[in-house]
Amino acid sequence: MEPLACSAQEQQFEKIPTLIFPTPGDACAALAAEIRQLIESKAAKGETTVLGLATGSTPVPFYRELIRLHREEGLSFETVITFNLDEYHGLSRDHPESYYRFMHEQLFDHINLKPENIHVPDGTIHRDEVFEYCAGYEQAIEDAGGLDMQILGIGRTGHIGFNEPGSARDSRTRLITLDRLTRIDAAADFQGEQNVPRFAITMGVGTILAARRVALLAWGENKADIVAQAVEGEQTDAVSASFLQGHSASRFIINKAAASALKRVRLPWLTGSVTWTPDLTRRAVTWLAFKTGKPFLKLVDEEYSEHGMADLLTEHGSAYDLNIKIFNDIQHTITGWPGGKPDADDSNRPERSEPSPKRAVIFSPEPQDDVLAMGGTMERLVKQGHRVLVAYQTSGDLRVSDAETQKFSTALFEISDQSPHDWKDQLGYAQNILSQLEEKGPFGEPSPELRQLKGLIRRGDARNACEACSIRADQIEFLDLPFYKKGRYRQFTLSDEDVDSVVAVLDKMKPHQIFATGHLADPSSVQGVAFEAVRRALIKLQDTDWMKDCYVWLYRGQQRELAPHEIDMAVPMSPGQLATKLNAIQKFQSHSNSELVDGSRNRDIAVLYDKLGLAEYEAIEAFERYLPESM
Ligand code: F6R
Repeated sequence: MEPLACSAQEQQFEKIPTLIFPTPGDACAALAAEIRQLIESKAAKGETTVLGLATGSTPVPFYRELIRLHREEGLSFETVITFNLDEYHGLSRDHPESYYRFMHEQLFDHINLKPENIHVPDGTIHRDEVFEYCAGYEQAIEDAGGLDMQILGIGRTGHIGFNEPGSARDSRTRLITLDRLTRIDAAADFQGEQNVPRFAITMGVGTILAARRVALLAWGENKADIVAQAVEGEQTDAVSASFLQGHSASRFIINKAAASALKRVRLPWLTGSVTWTPDLTRRAVTWLAFKTGKPFLKLVDEEYSEHGMADLLTEHGSAYDLNIKIFNDIQHTITGWPGGKPDADDSNRPERSEPSPKRAVIFSPEPQDDVLAMGGTMERLVKQGHRVLVAYQTSGDLRVSDAETQKFSTALFEISDQSPHDWKDQLGYAQNILSQLEEKGPFGEPSPELRQLKGLIRRGDARNACEACSIRADQIEFLDLPFYKKGRYRQFTLSDEDVDSVVAVLDKMKPHQIFATGHLADPSSVQGVAFEAVRRALIKLQDTDWMKDCYVWLYRGQQRELAPHEIDMAVPMSPGQLATKLNAIQKFQSHSNSELVDGSRNRDIAVLYDKLGLAEYEAIEAFERYLPESM
């Protein structure tokens, strides 16, 4: 599979060759084929191949492809020597989150790599010996002949390896303090930020730059901004990946979602001639308004010409005509009737007025995704008389803290103990859970029983949050999709059973509206896998009569909100409605993330609409329409 075609002119702002593939699978297949060629050509000459490897979600599909090449196409790793980039400091090798264990589970145990050729920094080295140990790691790389190829992911701080902001270009393998953002991103793996190690041993930027070839992989919209900074920005120690600009054989290998902030994707009229589709026109005019700091209706011809958009005016007559067109376009995205306004002219509304009331299914990958993004809209749909079903795709149990589980079990233990009735079973259950928690410790693998209880606790939160949005318990369904129930972070695999369960709920409801999210998430994340289940279900159902008449609305997950030009439906909220939503979010007591509950995201969209010259609202929830042809 080839990367998307692109001219040199379109890449003019990119300081590192950047290959954009339709999917991570396509990208990984291309990279694995290159590595295979490297290994086999060196082996034919009697030489070893030295690979630098990364951990994290990103390389997982790449490792799966290497395993496939080994199993199905006979690729041998006998001549390969590997060096991993990094390891958490303070974790033993058998810790479930150690990178040593990760590499064995994800790759080493499935290929014929010689154990003596595997090198992962040892996180248990005493601080006093770290310096010497790291020098030894560097020496071992050199003794092996240097890295032929280094595989990298990128963190949202721009780190490669764990070279956090401030890491020098010539830094070498060393102990480093992890950035707060990196620790937040790892919090789910460790059941809470407080459990994430504070330090790590990492190869330095200089170590990475000494590799003969470098390939950095990135998937998903969450990586889009940092990828653009690394590829198009200045070389700076604030974004250590930007130092790859100085390496003559480095490449970024990314999917479309991770490429979405690059200039050639975001502002294509600045990188070459374009065909002005309605979407692109809306994007360009909105960009111009923000760039000049003016509302739509004040943009003038000269501003269009000065910003490479003169041909747009030729097409539309004048700035005056175009401004009004786009102003109306965006104005028409605003509706207080997310299920359609009955008996109203709907020719300029995002949703149809008929039928009324509608049936709506709201998919939420984990409990909380729904309320965070669209709690206000959920409340409106119910209050406006629509039949709403909230379908929680997974229980979200992996996010429930041990402390919360302990609180519940202790209460059950005490009430059973004090009960005048015979509550032996309950007492035994509570005792069992409490001892399991103790045996497991903060990092142990939770048993299915523990996961079940955590899932039930999370259900309670979800019901409370829904109730705060006026959604009754009988309007909620917990799908408990098997991919999540049987999996753990980074190890989820979608099966037909998952898709069938989504099909069943849709077929039962035959909705007029579906709300879903995860389309631009990292495909291996819970949200990414959950969306894939919805996408496949929609394909299966596309020929049903009800599906032909169904609108699918997408909301954005926790990290990146829709930009105004991407919004197809904007549901405004009053201060009171926002307060109701924030109250609903607070109900998720078993997992509270204070950063998410201040409503700033919804306020920010409202500010942007205001700046564009539209009405000034307190807050807005935003959706884009998912069209069948993009399925
Ligand atoms: C991992 C590593 C890190 C990750 C980065 C992205 O060995 O060195 O730089 O590549 O944090 O992590 P994921 O892939 O989980 O998004």
